[in-house]
Parts: sequence; structure tokens; C-alpha cells
Amino acid sequence: MKVGVLTGGGDCPGLNAVIRAIARKGIIRYGYVIYGIYQGWKGLLEDGLVHPIDLSDTSGILPKGGTILRTSRTNPYKVEDGERKVLESIKKNRIDALIAIGGDDTLGVAAKLYEKGIKIVGVPKTIDNDIYGTDRTFGFDTAVNIATDAIDRIHTTAESHNRVMVVEVMGRHAGWIAIESGLAGGADMILIPERPFNMDDVCTLIKRRHERGKDFSIVVVAEGALIKTSEHPEGTEITQDGSVDEFGNVRLGGVGNFVAMGIENRLGFESRVVILGHVQRGGSPTAFDRMLGTRYGIKAIDLVHKGQFGNFAALKGSEIVAVPLADMAGKTRTVDDELYEMAEVFFG
Ligand code: F6P
Repeated sequence: MKVGVLTGGGDCPGLNAVIRAIARKGIIRYGYVIYGIYQGWKGLLEDGLVHPIDLSDTSGILPKGGTILRTSRTNPYKVEDGERKVLESIKKNRIDALIAIGGDDTLGVAAKLYEKGIKIVGVPKTIDNDIYGTDRTFGFDTAVNIATDAIDRIHTTAESHNRVMVVEVMGRHAGWIAIESGLAGGADMILIPERPFNMDDVCTLIKRRHERGKDFSIVVVAEGALIKTSEHPEGTEITQDGSVDEFGNVRLGGVGNFVAMGIENRLGFESRVVILGHVQRGGSPTAFDRMLGTRYGIKAIDLVHKGQFGNFAALKGSEIVAVPLADMAGKTRTVDDELYEMAEVFFG
């Protein structure tokens, strides 16, 4: 049996742990031949991107960030005749089953291909932790640890200079990285997409804190946080240049500057912004993400072996379970009220 593996969407720490686990169990226990499909779905649209991977290819990759299979945000459904080309490539390369490791976009494509008869299973990946149907995606823990470390460092310089430091973190339309790194790093305010904010409320809290005798503050803001105005009470996001990728995702970024400028202009407190950006996605995975990635990889190859296609490996409590791909498509897992209300205790 030939099993193809691909990684799609933005990279994240832990991808190599998944690939390694699939190769180890697939080759040694099940006697499968594993094929790497390079650069995500692009690997099935262009020639020369499907190659066998053996145990030597996956040796030593566990602590490495990124993905040995490379990745792209290619959407076959945005390419002319894309679906047919993908189906033909799977046939031409004699791939019997496919494992797609990716976020909601990649797994959404996997769900459609399953409907077309492809034997496919998914593995949920993203630093954003926003995939519906699983309690955790791998990559998230590493991103939260990187952001927390940054907030700790920013604390000391904020305090020395009596400044307000605004830290902008990733996470797209979910505030998971912001809420968890903000709580762990002791932020004085956390702004997330799930709770649209206005500058009056932000400034009231910062002012109150300074009146309590604190000369510095740390604000963590998620890149997708929504700004409320009287014309747009539902909130609007700030985008970099309005461009979108092949899945229609806008490039977020800039809300940190908006918040820092707003505080400085209204309150007169010297403010600075730090945009953590892709640092959150780079480098070696934490032990947690190596473990979660390994568990997901083992589950994925077991699902292939049992013929349980059309599912993705998910974490529910402490168990790794199979969840139908159709259940997650088009949905986003966002921060719940309980967690946000806990964070609010530490605001101001
Ligand atoms: O989905 C992961 C993520 O890092 C988001 O948090 C962020 O908005 C986006 O990808 C950035 O994408 P790119 O790497 O294409 O700039």
C-alpha cells in the first residue's frame, strides 16, 4: 500500500514529528510505502513533487521546526480544473491513501476530496488553535511559549522606561494565542477578536492602573481584534494591504499600532508596539507539541490501516479520537466566555 503525506497552509512547529510518526509506524509496523507530496496541494497539481520518503529521511527531524515536505497555500479549487488534476495525480502516482496535515483550509480541501472517493485522513495543524472539533492543534503550545517569553522580556523594559508596551500576536480570527500568552505573561489587558473593543474602554483601564501607582502597562492584542465604533458596533479588523490568499484569508496586521497610538494620543503615556509575527511560528517545537504531533501521526496512520477514511485525528480531553472531516469544514473554534472572564480579573 502506498500512502501519500502532505503539509499545507502556514508551517508550524511539530509538523516533522507528525511526518516521522507516520513514516515509522507506516513502514515498520504496516509495511507501507510512504510518499512525500511536496509543497502542499501544489504537489498534486505540478509534476515532480511526489517522492518516496524512507526512515533515513525522517531521522533526526523531531526537534526541527518547519516541515521537511515544504508547504504552500495553494488551493486546488482556485486553479482551473484543479480538482480533476489532483484526482489524476493521485491515480498516476498510484497513491492508495492520503494523509493531509493542515489547518481548516487544507482539511476543507481534504473533506471535498473524500466526497470524490479519495481515501483520505487529516491531521489538525496550526499555531492559531482554531480548528473546530479538536481541543488542541499542535504548534499552538510552542507559539504561546514564544509569546510568553517575549512578554516577560518586554515587561522589564516597559517597567524601566515607564511605558505602555503593546504586543501584537498572531491567531487570525481567534484569540487563543493572545489570551493564553497574555494570561501566562501577566498582561494588563488582552484584546481578542471574540470581544470587539473601543479605545475609550482600553484607556479607562490603563488610566485606572496608572492611578493605582503603576507606571507601566502591557497590552496584548490579537492581530484579528475588532475595533468597535458607533458606525460599526460589530467591530472592524485592520488588514495590511487588503490582499487575500487563495483561500480568501486577508493579511491581518496593524492593530497593535492603532492601540499604541490611541493610548499615547489620548492619555499621553509613552507607548511602543512589538509585532511578534512569524517568530511565533519558527524554531523547535516544545515537548508538548512533539508529543501531540507524534500522537496525531500515529492515529492518522492507524486510521489509514483500519480504513477509517474521511476523519481527522483530534484531541478530546486526554484522548486522541477520530472526528469526521465534514464536522470541521467552515467552522472556527474561538475563545470561550469563561476563559475571557478569567482573564478580565487581571485587567487594569
Ligand atoms: O494561520 C497561521 C498564521 O500564522 C496566522 O496566525 C497568520 O495570520 C497567518 O498564518 C500568516 O500567514 P503568512 O505566513 O502567509 O503570512
